Amino acid sequence: MPTKIEKDSYTGTDTTGHEWDGIKELNTPIPSWWVWVFVASIIFSIVYVILYPAIPLTDSATQGVLGWSQRDTLATELAVRDEGRADITASISEADAAIVEQDHTLRTFALRGGAAAFAENCAPCHGAGGGGRPGYPVLADDDWIWGGTLSAIQETIRVGIRSGHDDERYAEMPAFADMLPQGERIAIAHFVAGLTGKGDPAKAAAGAVPYQDNCASCHGEDGTAVEDTGAPSLNDAIWIYGSDTGSILKQISNPQHGVMPAWEGRLDPVTIKMLAIYVHNLGGGLQEDAGL
Ligand code: HEC
Ligand code: HEC
Repeated sequence: MPTKIEKDSYTGTDTTGHEWDGIKELNTPIPSWWVWVFVASIIFSIVYVILYPAIPLTDSATQGVLGWSQRDTLATELAVRDEGRADITASISEADAAIVEQDHTLRTFALRGGAAAFAENCAPCHGAGGGGRPGYPVLADDDWIWGGTLSAIQETIRVGIRSGHDDERYAEMPAFADMLPQGERIAIAHFVAGLTGKGDPAKAAAGAVPYQDNCASCHGEDGTAVEDTGAPSLNDAIWIYGSDTGSILKQISNPQHGVMPAWEGRLDPVTIKMLAIYVHNLGGGLQEDAGL
């Protein structure tokens, strides 16, 4: 292609000499500010590579002459933070949870620490803020299977439920599928639903006596759980496995048993104490430890 550089009559700029179907390309130079920014960034990157970690190697990176590392910076910041906390952590470690809960500073610290540990370890099962999910009990109400005092909650967190821990909390509901005929189980299901005003009253009548015979020893004559049986109350409209007669019948026939992991050994004792205080304070309705 013949090239002919000429001056463009409109702009006064030279053309490059390239021409396509009568369209000519102007030779407009890059603005000088752009060229300087470009040069400056090249110089910056060379200086950066010399000073800081930059070029990735197989399992590390070039170190840079300043010896700076993000990991060291974080470690220093964490060390400074822990130093500031050491006193308060020591106080929480030494004091009884009930004392920590009474002390404004310790309590504030414990609630924050507990909230953070809860979000990380407990929320996947119990929901954010202890709101619960089907099969996982709400922790933000004041209904407890294993006790809602500070010490009872701390113990539940420490040993878990059906967790395999040596001191685990354990309770088992018998499977009535093999023990009671279907009709009787259905009647009991309606009776249990009736404790909270649901179910079919006509069908529930036949369930009253079998309920007393088979269930009251754990769940109480009126549905208020017998203490220390590990059985939930059935008259409080709070359910782990569902309130409809179908779910209740399923539980009677082939009961489900929830598993709550033990946290001793996985979380340090201070964190477990802070969690107990946090859970104890969820929902606001607090059960008091005797004598406090
Ligand atoms: C893997 C799921 C899971 C995780 C994680 C979990 N829990 Fe649980 N938790 C359960 C289940 C299931 C139950 C109910 C067990 C049952 O059926 O009796 C329970 C019960 C409890 C109870 C007893 C409630 C009562 O009524 O007595 C407390 C307190 C509790 N969890 C606190 C916690 C705390 C605090 C954490 C975090 C450190 C946590 N849980 C983490 C599954 C879990
Ligand atoms: C030996 C004690 C025991 C006996 C007897 C027993 N249960 Fe239970 N029941 C339990 C335990 C423990 C649980 C809790 C299971 C869990 O936490 O995962 C439970 C749970 C339940 C639930 C689920 C409650 C919820 O919140 O979802 C229902 C419903 C129930 N039982 C009904 C009955 C009925 C009806 C009978 C009699 C036919 C009966 N149980 C007999 C111990 C017992």
